[in-house]
Amino acid sequence: MDNIFALWTKGIDSERGFWTRWFETKGLEWADDYTERVRARRELDPWLQKVLRQSAVNAPGQDGMPRFRVLDVGAGPLSKIGNFMPDANLEVVAADPLAFIYSDLIDRHGITPGVRTQFAPAEDLSVFFAPSSFDLVHCSNALDHSFEPLRGIIEMLRVVRVGGTIILGHARNEAENEKYEGFHQHNFDVEDGRFVIWNKKERVIVEHELPVEFEIENSMQNRYVTNKIIKRSEFRDKDDNRRRDERLRKIYEQVIRAMSEK
Ligand SMILES: C[S@@+](CC[C@H](N)C(=O)[O-])C[C@H]1O[C@@H](n2cnc3c(N)ncnc32)[C@H](O)[C@@H]1O
Repeated sequence: MDNIFALWTKGIDSERGFWTRWFETKGLEWADDYTERVRARRELDPWLQKVLRQSAVNAPGQDGMPRFRVLDVGAGPLSKIGNFMPDANLEVVAADPLAFIYSDLIDRHGITPGVRTQFAPAEDLSVFFAPSSFDLVHCSNALDHSFEPLRGIIEMLRVVRVGGTIILGHARNEAENEKYEGFHQHNFDVEDGRFVIWNKKERVIVEHELPVEFEIENSMQNRYVTNKIIKRSEFRDKDDNRRRDERLRKIYEQVIRAMSEK
């Protein structure tokens, strides 16, 4: 992690600025997107509904309908994926490390969100959510804003159940496009069919780094990278307390250091 977390904290102000303007102008140049997102009840994205139906395993509830639990990682202030299905019981959970900022903005603008975004960074999802507790994990245009995207994917694998799916959607090579400013420190790409995450310091082929069995489909269309990962086996290691303590120590140190440098 070295000082990448400290660098990440420096991107918070610009992200806050973006969303502050987004609320004040009702969506900047994306007025339709604003109108959609502030609606409290919205049908889940059709593609995500299809993925859920294909992997249904949960026993139906008393009403005979299947039950699904979905996590939107890096959801922003108002998750865009929707929050109900006409023929299933659906729970959508939205998570983002800037949840406190977003909650404040939502309240200030008198909005009642369908799903209120709660605090959790991608890199430590399993600290906040039970292992194997989601049928689907979704993340769009957010993991490439994180401080350790590969760890984020591994944590998504921890909280999704075996047979469940992770859907990632990101603009191709966004750090290059954004000149490595703010949260834009990682590029996502597809090379020879493989999912590659890179920046000026490192380059990883995601398929080589995942510690469970999985199936992956990577595609690129109109400079947009989509990855569909199905978890096929459970983790064998336990993310033991000692490793977690070590990580907590590093994060503590980096937060205080980043705050001291202001
Ligand atoms: C461009 S917005 C995308 C929001 C939403 N997913 C969408 O598609 O509209 C990027 C989001 O990534 C979030 N983000 C930054 N670092 C993150 C991390 N480490 N884990 C999860 N989300 C993160 C930001 O706070 C921000 O809300």
